Amino acid sequence: MPAEADTLRLGEALAAGAGNGLVLHLHGELGSGKTTVVRGLLHALGHAGRVKSPSYTLVEPYSLSRLNLYHFDFYRFNDQAEWLSSGFREYFNAESLCVVEWPERAGDLLAPPDLDLSLSYQDAGRAAALEAHSPPGEAWLAAALRRWRSC
Ligand SMILES: Nc1ncnc2c1ncn2[C@@H]1O[C@H](COP(=O)(O)OP(=O)(O)O)[C@@H](O)[C@H]1O
Ligand SMILES: [Mg+2]
Repeated sequence: MPAEADTLRLGEALAAGAGNGLVLHLHGELGSGKTTVVRGLLHALGHAGRVKSPSYTLVEPYSLSRLNLYHFDFYRFNDQAEWLSSGFREYFNAESLCVVEWPERAGDLLAPPDLDLSLSYQDAGRAAALEAHSPPGEAWLAAALRRWRSC
């Protein structure tokens, strides 16, 4: 993906097949484009406003017409007791789509995702790899790839 617009388009492609009850984990070092993907995804799902990086708040909620999306960023997560006491776990349910940056920082507190997206630097652009881990994740990946190829 040579330019930022391509990373946004990958997020847009993920809007195809996105639905409540799904979990997407985003991997990749700082600046690899994780938040950019979420921006493309949210815009394609009809969110017109800004997309803030939830690095301090840990989670940013979006109530969209077709679904509830929770955008997590666990970069600064270091307190497992906070997780257990703050009710974060309840966000992961059948009525929400959860997208998680830095899931590895939450250790084993998170359930396995339906889909993993790994971003990496490639020359001046970025490379992306997607892997599904459940039947709903497989369906989501197939829909996203169809959308990606058609636009
Ligand atoms: N395919 C790309 N090629 C070049 N620059 C990109 C590409 N995708 C995203 N960027 C840029 O890289 C930076 C990524 O930032 P961000 O999405 O916040 O990364 P992360 O959330 O992984 O830390 C932004 O400045 C964005 O414009
Ligand atoms: Mg980010």
